[in-house]
Amino acid sequence: MTTNEQPRTQWRGRWGFLLAATGSAVGLGNIWKFPYITGEYGGGAFVLVYLACILAVGVPVMMTEIALGRRGRGSPIDAIRRLVSESGKGSAWSLLGWMAMLCGFLILSFYVVVAGWSFSYLWKMLSGGLAGSSVDDMAAIFVANNENPLNLGFWSTLVTVATMVIVGKGVQAGIEKSVDWMMPGLVIMLLALIGFGIFSGGFGDAVRFLFSFDAGSLSSEGMLTALGHAFFTLSLASGAILTYGSYLPAKASIARTTLSVAVADTVVALMAGLAIFPVIFANGMSPASGPGLIFMSLPLAFQAMPLGTLFGVLFFVMLSMAALTSSISMVEATISWLSDNKGISRRTASWSTGIVLWLVSTLAMLSFNLGADWTLAGKTFFDWLDYLTSRWMMPLGGLGMVLLAGFVLKHETFREELGLSPAWHALWLFMVRYVSPLGILVIFVDALGITRV
Ligand code: PHE
Ligand code: NA
Repeated sequence: MTTNEQPRTQWRGRWGFLLAATGSAVGLGNIWKFPYITGEYGGGAFVLVYLACILAVGVPVMMTEIALGRRGRGSPIDAIRRLVSESGKGSAWSLLGWMAMLCGFLILSFYVVVAGWSFSYLWKMLSGGLAGSSVDDMAAIFVANNENPLNLGFWSTLVTVATMVIVGKGVQAGIEKSVDWMMPGLVIMLLALIGFGIFSGGFGDAVRFLFSFDAGSLSSEGMLTALGHAFFTLSLASGAILTYGSYLPAKASIARTTLSVAVADTVVALMAGLAIFPVIFANGMSPASGPGLIFMSLPLAFQAMPLGTLFGVLFFVMLSMAALTSSISMVEATISWLSDNKGISRRTASWSTGIVLWLVSTLAMLSFNLGADWTLAGKTFFDWLDYLTSRWMMPLGGLGMVLLAGFVLKHETFREELGLSPAWHALWLFMVRYVSPLGILVIFVDALGITRV
């Protein structure tokens, strides 16, 4: 029952972990969220802050989390508790583990709604429901798809069930498999869309929008969104990467794995931007169209490009798979914690978690129809889940992790786990002690308006 006596399940070498961690990282965050928040916060400057956050905060935090997971051999709660007690420090730090686990769960409860959009658009592509639609039709189709709770609920329920079935089957059988064809597939689809964008006009505008940094002042809201998204897109501070790290064999290099995941994730996000914004500009749509952005724009490209229906179907298959390989990682912390501590099987853990998840996600789904007016401070339940996790829980959780690693735990632990040369180790330590925490704090304090006169 405890992980101390049984060897913990392991990935098949570095490759297995790399696939799974990449699968977790690359998801709707890259293809759905990155373009729409970039559109909302005005492009270039936002992208620049996001990239800076990936480098200065995301990479050091990811290395820290994998090390914490592997060394602590368990879910965030267990791993942190174990390491903290080894260092003779107070167990209050395991609250960090609780917050991460809760965060992963809360993300999943709105993520299944978005993944449901992807599945339903796959169905629309297959059944010809998008053919011959104008720009305005596409917007109307997105709204109509949300309006009926039975329809939307069907798709989010489907994703919830699929996630929990895969998770219930266990690490090896459930998770590792789909990533190795999904990733290359997604990149090919995005390349095709970018290629189409280059010939269809709007590409120059897209490049200018994404990469011209003169965009003036980025709001502090935007900076906090960029920081939160750096965590979200790399699956950090939400239990996913830490728990996956606990299955990593001792010999695999944490630094190299982290870099591959971060690079792959960033490349896919930038490619998604380059694929989507040409369509937006060529069709005179607003970049700030909100969460429906990719669903209202990409089908326009699919209907105009050669073999578009085929590409569209394949694209939504890939997107749905990418969503699933992320969603399964969000509950891994919960499932691992339940099965390590409560003496229940993964199967039991996953269906019981699934029931709670279904209830919360149904509330999130209702934000687009029956519950559209159930707002608090102008935010729906769906908005609140997104807001609380990305703006608060992940940046604060990440801050906790780097402080824990930088100042609280034994240095030996990280020297051994990371296995870096002295110079690189010093750089990592400098990052987790000063650069990442200050970066997080500065953005936070700025967003709270404390620095403003
Ligand atoms: N990184 C995933 C994405 O970009 C989302 C995610 C967040 C996954 C948190 C796991 C944990 O879609
Ligand atoms: Na991502």
